[in-house]
Amino acid sequence: MKKIEILKAPKLIGKKVKLAGWVNSRRDMGQVIFIDLRDRSGIMQLVFTSSSEKEKKELRDLADSLRSEYVIEVEGKLQERPEGMENPKLETGKLEVEVEKMKILAKAKTLPFEITKDTKSVEEEKRMKYRYLDLRSERMRKNIICRHKAIKFIRDFLSEKDFIEIETPILTKSTPEGARDYIVPSRQQPGKFYALPQSPQQYKQLLMVAGMEKYFQIARCFRDEDPRGDRQPEHTQLDLEMSFVSQDDILELIESLYSALIKKLNQKKKKKDKKKISQIPFPKLDYAETIKKYKTDRPDLRKDKSDPNELAFCWIVNWPLFEWNATEKRWDPHHHIFTAPIKKDLPLLEKSPDKVHSEQYDLVLNGAEVGGGSIRISDPKTQMKIFELVGISKNEAEEKFGHLLKAFEYGVPPHGGIAAGLDRLLAILKKESSIREVIAFPKTGDGRDPMMGAPADVTKEQLKELQIEIKKKPKK
Ligand code: AMO
Repeated sequence: MKKIEILKAPKLIGKKVKLAGWVNSRRDMGQVIFIDLRDRSGIMQLVFTSSSEKEKKELRDLADSLRSEYVIEVEGKLQERPEGMENPKLETGKLEVEVEKMKILAKAKTLPFEITKDTKSVEEEKRMKYRYLDLRSERMRKNIICRHKAIKFIRDFLSEKDFIEIETPILTKSTPEGARDYIVPSRQQPGKFYALPQSPQQYKQLLMVAGMEKYFQIARCFRDEDPRGDRQPEHTQLDLEMSFVSQDDILELIESLYSALIKKLNQKKKKKDKKKISQIPFPKLDYAETIKKYKTDRPDLRKDKSDPNELAFCWIVNWPLFEWNATEKRWDPHHHIFTAPIKKDLPLLEKSPDKVHSEQYDLVLNGAEVGGGSIRISDPKTQMKIFELVGISKNEAEEKFGHLLKAFEYGVPPHGGIAAGLDRLLAILKKESSIREVIAFPKTGDGRDPMMGAPADVTKEQLKELQIEIKKKPKK
């Protein structure tokens, strides 16, 4: 079976080809029926001509029965379209296949919406309910393919640089990243719960204690917060961690990775569609000055905000370690509790925690936070002090983070890392206003998957096995 895309090669003209795909559209011109056949790589015009020959007549009748989205397999001759019949809008617009044989592989009911190049005008709930149809549209298909290309590039780039990709558990204990946990009841330990990771933060630090030195993962992270355009209950991070590094080492690595990635994605693009990074190295802005100047910690530094090809990355550095939580009357970490204070501010921890700066860095792109990380605390005493300041008691620290503190007693290398939000990066690269457009199966604003019908009830037996009883809210 040939992919439509490769039929552009001139040497195939005049040759017999075999194709398979979906009926994108059908035009009956009386003498001739034209079918636009669609596969993942493109569209090819099929031609069925009428004739008195029995075989040809049967073929034409079969073509007559075709409807949108039928799945077919055809064989025929690849030829140039007659002059004046070309379609300059199609990459294969100069070609057609004169069909000699056809098989209908599957019929299709009338679709709930038409598969056009771009289905954005269709109600989103419907698009999500029939996501497998929505993904047939050219825009969504291109978004998903771009996602694959970007992730493959990242994997190759980091592997070249001696990083190891390591998977970490999904069933785990909560890592505080500031959101609510998704929890999973344990059958074998009734009454106990796993938490889905808000990020692999503690595991990646433990991997540094384990001597892995350079770790990365395309990691799924789960946070029970209300979804928005740039926020999903589960999102994907490029998560990485390194031992024996400085802040600059990490920033430079991400800069070179993202610059190379943009270059790669620009290949084969027309000049007008090529992305341009405004400044390399990415500007490094001081947190306090940024807030003063832009009134936000994620400034949009594009020179021309109407130019969708401009990519203005910047780093925000020199963050305060804490922010004051007036409701709870305690210090909250600006990034997370594993972020190291900068050395020269260590003596201030005791008396003026508000004046302590940290080794945190955020990556901002066109006004969106697309990454965040820090150099970590590797001294158990400093870690205990931070727990105390954010209101985590000694007992609680032992219970929640004892494993990490214990690991640090057995030879911990200095380490740091970052996590970059891939959904947000891709949405910006694909000029999409929501990250849902670059995720194959996203959740709605109220956390549902309308296609699978999740979340859903479970059986009484399942609940019984978990020793869980659902108490209905009393009616008002
Ligand atoms: P942080 O919580 O800053 O850091 O997350 C890193 C990046 O992940 C993206 N992101 C999200 N994207 C979509 N939906 C969400 N709900 C969502 N939440 C976060 C953002 C963000 O910048 N463990 C630390 C990283 C580290 O210190 O190494 C962490 O997860 O682009």
